[in-house]
Amino acid sequence: MFQINDNFQKLPGSYLFSTIAKKVAAYQEANPDKEIIRLGIGDVTQPLAPAIIDALHKAVDEMGNAATFHGYAPDLGYEFLRKAISDNDYKARGCDISADEIFVSDGAKSDSANIQELFSANSRIAVTDPVYPVYVDSNVMAGRTGTYDAQTETWSNVIYMPSTADNGFVPELPKEVPDMIYLCLPNNPTGTTLKKEQLQVWVDYANKNGSVIIFDAAYEAYISESDVPHSIYECNGAKTCAIELRSFSKNAGFTGVRLGFTVVPKELKCGDVSLHAMWARRHGTKFNGAPYIVQRAGEAVYSDAGKAQLKDQVAYYMNNAKTIKTGLAEAGFTVYGGVNAPYIWLKTPDQMTSWEFFDYLLENANVVGTPGSGFGPSGEGYFRLTAFGNYENTVKALERIKAL
Ligand code: MLT
Repeated sequence: MFQINDNFQKLPGSYLFSTIAKKVAAYQEANPDKEIIRLGIGDVTQPLAPAIIDALHKAVDEMGNAATFHGYAPDLGYEFLRKAISDNDYKARGCDISADEIFVSDGAKSDSANIQELFSANSRIAVTDPVYPVYVDSNVMAGRTGTYDAQTETWSNVIYMPSTADNGFVPELPKEVPDMIYLCLPNNPTGTTLKKEQLQVWVDYANKNGSVIIFDAAYEAYISESDVPHSIYECNGAKTCAIELRSFSKNAGFTGVRLGFTVVPKELKCGDVSLHAMWARRHGTKFNGAPYIVQRAGEAVYSDAGKAQLKDQVAYYMNNAKTIKTGLAEAGFTVYGGVNAPYIWLKTPDQMTSWEFFDYLLENANVVGTPGSGFGPSGEGYFRLTAFGNYENTVKALERIKAL
């Protein structure tokens, strides 16, 4: 008789955003006349920029012609895209990351879930609390997290680094040394960032203690303050201790197109073993490359026209962030985030739990957000709203919340 991977049985409930989608669908079915505004999952709403559409059309035409047709993509990504990434995201910021340290993928969500495969089953992970749930759930599936305590909503073998209002949502270094440290900056869900000297402390800690940092920079395009690093490789020594994950979803609206990349520096080693070689081996075995058409669209993100158009798109969403943040503050809410990130993190009113506030907002304002407790126990009593809606709906949502 076959046996299943029992670790899946340990996972409590369904994936956070699936649970929310089910609740919203049930509410809509029971109330078909209500116009629901979705500011829950961080899914973009603005159309792809014209430079990207042009690149897609051109690539589609190439696929229809035998002379320019493309079959399997190189499993690590086309050189034209890896070079554009290396030049624009790294060399232009003074980071010495070469094209062949970049692994193109179908997005940062899958990379952030898959990267744990490189590490031993005994590895201990450290996560901020609250945290993007994929990091923990993927390690649960791999059997690395111990047992779940439903009371405290924590795993016995995970080191939690609380990010709360008390520490300004800036986690402290863990007291026990972890093997793997997940950092998402700008942070999902709190919107926090670290300045370069603060991030340098983590890099130094990892190098000193032999930990690896999995640095998720999916929201870097939203950084507005000049002293906030866009990449962990802006810190000295990061190439020997950090892997960086990037996405095209939030900076270029590719949530439905799917494209991302991971940087594994050649200097990152465990003894003599190169993690770069391991990730290349894994990629080669399990992935057949992102589509040519999509990689050409990714290349257009770095064209002059693409850069200008996407700057406007990011500004559009950040104007929504400002609208939400100021609107909520005017309505008496305590609000965080929204300056270097497209997420607003607010304290729930009247001691409501996160899920109570979720229901209250859905039923009374027909607005969907994300309960903070879905990101971890320290998220209890908080709530996340996304700036990725369209402007008209964002304004309308705020009017409804203010009228409560
Ligand atoms: C979120 O809402 O946290 C993100 O959209 C989830 C994701 O990017 O996978």
